[in-house]
Amino acid sequence: MPRSFTKISDLSEEEIQFVFRSCSEIKSGKTEPRPLKEKSVACIFTKQSLRTRVSFEVAISELGGSPIYITGDEIKLGVRESIADAARVLSRYVALIMIRTFKQSDVEELAEYAAVPVVNGLTDLVHPCQILGDYFTATERLPNLKVYKVAYVGDGNNIANSWLNLASRLPLDLRIGTAASTPPDEQILNRAKENPESRILITDDPKEAVAQADVVYTDVWASMGQKDQADKKSRLLEKFQVNASLLAGASPDCLVMHCLPAERGKEITDEVMDGPNSVVFDQAENRLHIQKAIMAFLLRQP
Ligand code: CP
Ligand code: NVA
Repeated sequence: MPRSFTKISDLSEEEIQFVFRSCSEIKSGKTEPRPLKEKSVACIFTKQSLRTRVSFEVAISELGGSPIYITGDEIKLGVRESIADAARVLSRYVALIMIRTFKQSDVEELAEYAAVPVVNGLTDLVHPCQILGDYFTATERLPNLKVYKVAYVGDGNNIANSWLNLASRLPLDLRIGTAASTPPDEQILNRAKENPESRILITDDPKEAVAQADVVYTDVWASMGQKDQADKKSRLLEKFQVNASLLAGASPDCLVMHCLPAERGKEITDEVMDGPNSVVFDQAENRLHIQKAIMAFLLRQP
């Protein structure tokens, strides 16, 4: 079975560090890998996207290949035919499959039956390419830290879960500030707590979460597929807004991160998103570089 990237914990710490080194070399132009020369990549999107679609399509082209954009409505994965059959068929045409969809189990099933690597471009459970890119951004901006104090404040969603998955692999001081009724995934949390090198704090006090933090991260309060819960989540998460007053408790050089798209004025204020600590557009750029590094890693010849 080829290696896939369905979640961060599919990779070992050494492999993650390898991907970061490769990302840095690719970004600086030191290496220009072409593992997709004259090959195609299927990009399946069952949810909306700006960054993931465009950064993957550009990355695939720059690695020498051609992206094929496929909407969920078109292939009706698991409805028109089984996920296993779709995986077998796609593997006869393309060198890699990238998928954004709802269920994590669908991505894992696709990876189980595909003869080519599968990359997760976001599910309800995790967004692994995003968080690898974001950690890479943190290492570029604050290169001298050994263990990053990362405060994720807001909904306990796919972004929070991916930070926890990273903490299960790398040493992290991860604080998740969220309401008692919006926690991250329990299994993923418990696995992160098993890494003795990481410190994990779950708190409903946003100030406790951001205290002296190196990274202050937030995301929309209602993710794709949950927009009907937007009002309820806004009420529950109101006190977790990343604003100037909350940021005052973080390290003065802290990096403000958001995976985007942002709902300005809700989970983050304009003042903070456009302020001097914000690196949100560097994060967006690094999606391109990290996805090249991830695909090159998965496509490497043994
Ligand atoms: N951050 C991110 O994945 O953005 P899109 O939803 O626009 O792809
Ligand atoms: N949590 C958000 C992330 C978007 C990139 C969502 O799933 O909609």
